[in-house]
Amino acid sequence: MPKTKFARESATIMTEMVLPNDTNTLNNLMGGKLMHWMDVVAAIAAQKHSNRIVVTASADNISFQQPIALGNVVTLKAQVTRAFTSSMEVFIQVSADDIPANKSIVTHRAFFTFVAVDQNGRPIEIPEVIPETDEEKEHFDGALRRRQLRLVLAKRMKPEDAVELKSIFNLK
Ligand SMILES: CC(C)(COP(=O)(O)OP(=O)(O)OC[C@H]1O[C@@H](n2cnc3c(N)ncnc32)[C@H](O)[C@@H]1OP(=O)(O)O)[C@@H](O)C(=O)NCCC(=O)NCCS
Repeated sequence: MPKTKFARESATIMTEMVLPNDTNTLNNLMGGKLMHWMDVVAAIAAQKHSNRIVVTASADNISFQQPIALGNVVTLKAQVTRAFTSSMEVFIQVSADDIPANKSIVTHRAFFTFVAVDQNGRPIEIPEVIPETDEEKEHFDGALRRRQLRLVLAKRMKPEDAVELKSIFNLK
């Protein structure tokens, strides 16, 4: 198992079409269906990085600001931003294309956390991430603060221990 892997090695793209069975009564994509697709694309990226079985540990806030219509083509891109000991953060970007109208919009961006586990479901060590592009470096740098925020919210970290998170609020 390599000790490091490039962020790009986990890049994953998934394309889906919004069909009648995926929609609500306004003919827009159901939120739960989109979250399912996000979970799948992010899990594949996490598997590519870790070469392990992975489980979803958390999904950061997803807001639904614009609907995705029946017949749109949804493209989900996922890539691991940073790995810690057994957990890794995955960035997901969703875009919706109305192909006949030649229109494409980015509808969602979110961060999910996955944990690599062994056959018994116990967390297991994974390679570190090497970011290369400016965007990968930005995501890598922010990942530590986001990790601290989600661990504090999950009551897995004391707020006073979230040093990097506190620093952005200028708290002592
Ligand atoms: C995620 C899970 C493996 C963590 O196991 P655990 O026994 O609590 O293990 P640990 O406390 O050692 O934590 C392991 C890693 O998970 C991370 N983690 C745990 N809970 C987390 C959360 N809510 N958000 C983000 N990361 C979390 C820890 O920070 C740790 O990361 P690190 O090794 O990189 O430092 C375990 O809680 C689990 O199996 N959950 C169910 C997963 C699942 O079924 N997902 C599908 C949802 S239905």
